[in-house]
Amino acid sequence: MKAGLINLKTPREIQTMREANLIVAEILGFLADVIRPGTTTGELDKIADRMITKAKAKAAFKGYRMRNQRPYPAAICSSVNEEIVHGIPGKRMLTEGDIVGIDVGVIYKGFVGDAARTYPVGRVSDNAMRLLQVTRESLYKGIDKARAGNRLQDISAAVQTHVELHGFSVVREFVGHGIGRKMHEPPQIPNYTGVGTNPRLEVGMTLALEPMVNEGTWKTKLLDDEWTAVTADGKLSAHFEHSIAITDNGPLILSEL
Ligand code: MF3
Ligand code: CO
Repeated sequence: MKAGLINLKTPREIQTMREANLIVAEILGFLADVIRPGTTTGELDKIADRMITKAKAKAAFKGYRMRNQRPYPAAICSSVNEEIVHGIPGKRMLTEGDIVGIDVGVIYKGFVGDAARTYPVGRVSDNAMRLLQVTRESLYKGIDKARAGNRLQDISAAVQTHVELHGFSVVREFVGHGIGRKMHEPPQIPNYTGVGTNPRLEVGMTLALEPMVNEGTWKTKLLDDEWTAVTADGKLSAHFEHSIAITDNGPLILSEL
């Protein structure tokens, strides 16, 4: 069924999406114990890739194309410090005090699971810790607004308000999205208000909410690798993402263990 252009899922389909997202959640949980000073982002990618195969799923990001970019070359995105999203894993070694955002996407039984979180590497500065906490909290504030009868921008407003209250800024260039058989379905879900559509939320909508929060300016730059988005001022950025479903009982987080 469709509400406007937004694809509504049946309870059965939502159950399958839960299975896909559980694979993602397990990988993100496992990586928490692997991430420490000395780990390379390429190692994290290898581990995630193996876990995806073992779960009989496929890496949703590998080969994915957005705009006119070259196909994405890895199973995960790993975004360190001033990198916002879509960092490409490789030889880079994590060091004490870094923060690293890991984004994982899988395709399982025809549905996409997608989630991300940002981890501290060893001990990090108080400000970095605060950035992680505020970004994570803003995601949950948004999720709490994902209820039938509310409007899409109620989610955006909740995220933006929380972030700006704490003196951080919300990235404009990248947004959350509907999710289902495709990774990116309508609607786009900005983490700030006043742009785009503002549809009424309905039971059966499945959404990937993903605030990207910067320590300084919200402005971004794209690196020459065509994928890695970084903060324009070189300050820190954090990213948390959950795939959720809107049910009769309110929001259901699909990508949490
Ligand atoms: N979670 C991100 C998104 O929803 C990850 C996409 S990485 C890509 O856009 F390579 F697949 F584009
Ligand atoms: Co996403």
